[in-house]
Amino acid sequence: MTTVGILGGGQLGAMLAPALQDLGADVHVYDPDPNAPALRRAARAHNGSWRDVARLQELFDACDAVTYEFENVETEGLARVAGLEKLSPSLDVLRTTQNRILEKEFLRARGLPHAAFVEGRTAGELAAAARDFGFPAILKTARGGYDGKGQWKLSSAADVESLLETPARGALDASGWVLEEPIDIVLEVSAIVARERNGDEVVFPLFENEHRDHILDVTLVPARLPDDLEAEAKSVALAAARALGVTGLLTTELFVGRSSRGRPGEVRVFTNEFAPRPHNSGHVTRKACNYSQFEALARILLGIPLVPPRLVSAGAFCMANLLGEVWEAQGSTEGLDLSAWEGNPDLLEVVLYGKKGVATKRKMGHLTVRGADAEAALTTARALRADLASPGLLRSV
Ligand SMILES: Nc1ncnc2c1ncn2[C@@H]1O[C@H](COP(=O)(O)OP(=O)(O)OP(=O)(O)O)[C@@H](O)[C@H]1O
Ligand SMILES: [Mg+2]
Repeated sequence: MTTVGILGGGQLGAMLAPALQDLGADVHVYDPDPNAPALRRAARAHNGSWRDVARLQELFDACDAVTYEFENVETEGLARVAGLEKLSPSLDVLRTTQNRILEKEFLRARGLPHAAFVEGRTAGELAAAARDFGFPAILKTARGGYDGKGQWKLSSAADVESLLETPARGALDASGWVLEEPIDIVLEVSAIVARERNGDEVVFPLFENEHRDHILDVTLVPARLPDDLEAEAKSVALAAARALGVTGLLTTELFVGRSSRGRPGEVRVFTNEFAPRPHNSGHVTRKACNYSQFEALARILLGIPLVPPRLVSAGAFCMANLLGEVWEAQGSTEGLDLSAWEGNPDLLEVVLYGKKGVATKRKMGHLTVRGADAEAALTTARALRADLASPGLLRSV
């Protein structure tokens, strides 16, 4: 029996674990938080910090293959572990994709399309760089950001000055930063490439993503974009996976839109960032595709060849995230009353992640629906979510 270790015990690990087990693997999970949801799915739960080399070594010793579901794993500890050839995607891929400066330098070096940017290592360099770069601009810490955390829109030199008087200064000094042009976004898409050890690769249908407050709100497939831009987005994603030498999954987030600096009116594709792991937008594959992003990664780790991913039917599929607000609306700290959805034929699945501790904006679950077309799928997903969150209509569990 093959034993696979997952670094990170969040919802991505909790969905990856059963995909591996369905293909006959034993699963171990490593997370600093003893309450991380995926630890409960594991044959063996490893609880330790990212710096605990001895604990990490125990995981590597016990496993034939190791992957990660969280790209902010600190690499200093991991780098000291023996047996790193078991890690997929590799430590190099993790290092590049967890640091926006390295990620942007990679895009530039490989000639992959991206928003104009400038980078810096310390907060002290920001004011002069921003003046030269011009406003408006979006500032991002090089490391540690997610769901829009560690990002600021800067409209003037005065904005830079005020920001540097806040605790953000420390974060910019600690991690470095990139400053990028705001893209006039028409739509956002993501592309998941699955790549085997021997270089065989497939790409999932593109997902169209809508964010609210910088957090993924809904994902729609098929994405509504013209064939030429779809082909370009997929070819960028494949080129990136090859150039990085990924074994496993590489999710590429792309903007489809206009540069604020380019020729007016021209809609193009811009690479935003990479995640070398399953992705929130890919949850839709669980019901929309012949196999899911989790099964794709499981197959790669277990050496089972991939087949081309495709949608299981005509029409459209929509995944909507369920954030802590839904639980708050129901006055619940744990379970969720789903009775409003009883018998709804369009609802394909609802997954509750079992996280301990409801918090506003925390990703706690998702639902997926099918619709005759994109509009129908989006409307149904939003309506079902709203039904659940209408206080007073439902009793809390
Ligand atoms: N240059 C840009 N122009 C326009 N919008 C942007 C730009 N950069 C980021 N955004 C918006 O902010 C969102 C989050 O940005 P980004 O993906 O860089 O950050 P993140 O915090 O790492 O997010 P994630 O949760 O995906 O890890 C994007 O999906 C997009 O909606
Ligand atoms: Mg992002």
